[in-house]
Amino acid sequence: MKKIGLFYAPANGATERIAQMISEKLGEENVEMVLITESTELKDILEYKKLIFGVPTIKVDDLNEGDEKTGWDYLIPKLDHRRFDKTIGAIFGLGNSVDYPENFVDSMGTLARMLVAGSMKLVGKCSTEGYEFTNSAGVINETFVGLPIDEDNEAEKTDGRVDEWLEKIRSNFKL
Ligand SMILES: Cc1cc2nc3c(=O)[nH]c(=O)nc-3n(C[C@H](O)[C@H](O)[C@H](O)COP(=O)(O)O)c2cc1C
Repeated sequence: MKKIGLFYAPANGATERIAQMISEKLGEENVEMVLITESTELKDILEYKKLIFGVPTIKVDDLNEGDEKTGWDYLIPKLDHRRFDKTIGAIFGLGNSVDYPENFVDSMGTLARMLVAGSMKLVGKCSTEGYEFTNSAGVINETFVGLPIDEDNEAEKTDGRVDEWLEKIRSNFKL
């Protein structure tokens, strides 16, 4: 079995693009990319001891309530109050710091809190330096809980940000 499970959703957007980039940089032979769907279960995640999660923040309000759900909408409730003992994980989060400066990459924080509450060892935290935003649930103790990526406004920074982050991941995952 491949060493790292990279769970992400949705397909066909920036999240999938960055998931693919990360997989290529880590070596595709090491990474199983798993698109999260309605049928993804906790047991699918627990098949891996090393995990990477790709989550965009899509703030839902009355205007887009009818939007199609992504795999994360189904998976998040299944992760609440569950155990992830002996797993190590890292999160990258897609967001838009210009249009959503008050909620920049919030979903990273929601996910991180659940994983840590279930005893997953979370690695790959990032400094807020170089990002412009006013508020983020993805920041805990003045540090991003994972890697924020803003493909909408700062796509030119993505490659460097991913490379720097993967340095930490390689060392923490002992690759
Ligand atoms: C309806 C909608 C709401 C969004 N809300 C937020 C938000 O609250 N915070 C944020 O950082 N980005 C927000 N974004 C930006 C997305 O996270 C960003 O465009 C991301 O790259 C989308 O990933 P995808 O292409 O994989 O779907 C929103 C985008 C849309 C379309």
